[in-house]
Amino acid sequence: MAKPSFFITTPIYYVNAKPHLGTAYSTVLCDVEARYRRATGYNVKFLTGMDEHGEKVAEAAAEHGMTPQEWCDSQAPFFKDLWRQLEISNDDFIRTTEQRQHDAVQYLWERMKESGYLYKGSYDGWYCVPEETYFTETQVTKSDEEHHTEGQHLCPDCGRPLERVQEESYFFKLSAFQDRLLKLYDEHPDFVQPDFRMNEVRSFVEGGLQDLSVSRTSFDWGIPVPFDEKHVTYVWFDALLNYMTAVGYGVDTPEAKAELAYRWPAQYHVVGKDIIRFHCVIWPAMLMAIGEALPEHVFAHGFLMVRNEETGQGEKMSKSRGNAIAPQDVIDLLGVEGYRYYFMTDVVPGEDGAISFSRMEQVYNADLANSWGNLVSRALNMSAKYFDGKTPELADGWADEKNPLREIAQGIEGRYAEHMDKLEYVQAKDEVMELVHAANHYVEDMAPWTVAKDFTRIGELAHIIANLLESIRICAHLLAPFMPETSAEVLRRMGAGDEVDTTDLASVCEWGRLAGGVEVTKGDALFPRLQKK
Ligand code: MSP
Repeated sequence: MAKPSFFITTPIYYVNAKPHLGTAYSTVLCDVEARYRRATGYNVKFLTGMDEHGEKVAEAAAEHGMTPQEWCDSQAPFFKDLWRQLEISNDDFIRTTEQRQHDAVQYLWERMKESGYLYKGSYDGWYCVPEETYFTETQVTKSDEEHHTEGQHLCPDCGRPLERVQEESYFFKLSAFQDRLLKLYDEHPDFVQPDFRMNEVRSFVEGGLQDLSVSRTSFDWGIPVPFDEKHVTYVWFDALLNYMTAVGYGVDTPEAKAELAYRWPAQYHVVGKDIIRFHCVIWPAMLMAIGEALPEHVFAHGFLMVRNEETGQGEKMSKSRGNAIAPQDVIDLLGVEGYRYYFMTDVVPGEDGAISFSRMEQVYNADLANSWGNLVSRALNMSAKYFDGKTPELADGWADEKNPLREIAQGIEGRYAEHMDKLEYVQAKDEVMELVHAANHYVEDMAPWTVAKDFTRIGELAHIIANLLESIRICAHLLAPFMPETSAEVLRRMGAGDEVDTTDLASVCEWGRLAGGVEVTKGDALFPRLQKK
């Protein structure tokens, strides 16, 4: 039977900024889920990419003396390189300047025209260039004074001055979708996750929707409207479609149609909380208009804030405050796997997270150096020492004997999976760390070094070491989505390297699959302890 599809996407990133901690956060979050789903038997498509059209991009290109395309081409490698470094396992990388996106967007225009939800009108309002968002007169002036001072209109979102625009534009009849959207939220309460974000979306829609201007004539760095070439596509109308372009939307071949049928709808769009409206209101309305299926879930994560060590409060990261942390700074401190582990297990994905270097050191030392890394090196060293460089030979039925580690390990994959399925990584990690901590306690309680002194107790010693190695083997599998390389290394060191690319996590995590009498490799410390700076 064909494997079920699991299609997960990151937002496509603006080409004008270099990849930073925030964009890396959305990307690693998806990577963990993608790896977990591959290990549980799905045929995964993990998509990321770049958002390359719009006035702002044309302006940045001009400032750098380049054409917009040259500018985009010069920026894409920064993203691709960081993703490679962070072990991002994306299956596709889409850029909105690719031909496939051009064709899909033009196909969308035709479908929109047929749908009856598109009309030509006159756009009269305000535009925020940095936010790439249009505001009507009422949206700007109904906000408090802050947004409308001394004749100057300021962006209600970012506070920067708005530009007045008045031009012919195509409009998408978003206002016609209020009831259908509310029905969607009622019928699929987990369409938006976590749930408190759903409440935000619902009240926004209940407040009423305005038609959306979806084309511009004032600049040309965009995809032309096929039936009216002086118009180019509004950036979000273009950007959102990337998710379907990447799975064959609008391509008239049997292969592309089969791909679209297999992959669409997506299971997860992972986005930051700042772009929820685009994904939870505009995107589903666009899909309803053209009669396509809606994505199953939009997962909205919070923002990373920097913890001010004096006040303990989280502050917005910004270059001007001088508190921005670059991905490379964290990689230098924790290594790539420590980086991934820290952001994925210490920041609750739905909420804003206050991060700091001292917290990073604390988590790394406590969980990785002292607990997980230490457990692995102790167990492998003892196995090698007491059993001639190998894992112990296992007596029949060893796996059926009751012991505290087996107790925790039984059903662990199921408990972990319940959380991983919903991107609840902190809780999933807690399940695994419970076994890691129990194994460290078990070493102390059983004192294998004492047992080893008495040769009549060799059978008992074999059981103790086997129980430890078996717990480690299971934990390595469960930690693999977070730290793929070290987990693979642990499995290799204990002679279970052939399990690394499992597609059946539940069965490899069954207690009792440990191979006895196979060679172990001791190796260097996986997570050397960080010294307090
Ligand atoms: N191009 C649009 C998305 C189009 S998707 C069809 C865009 N790009 S972006 O480059 O500005 O941001 C992409 C993602 O980075 C968003 O999900 C945003 O939430 C995330 N982050 C930006 N700063 C962030 C933090 N400080 N913390 C966490 N994530 C943040 O929006």
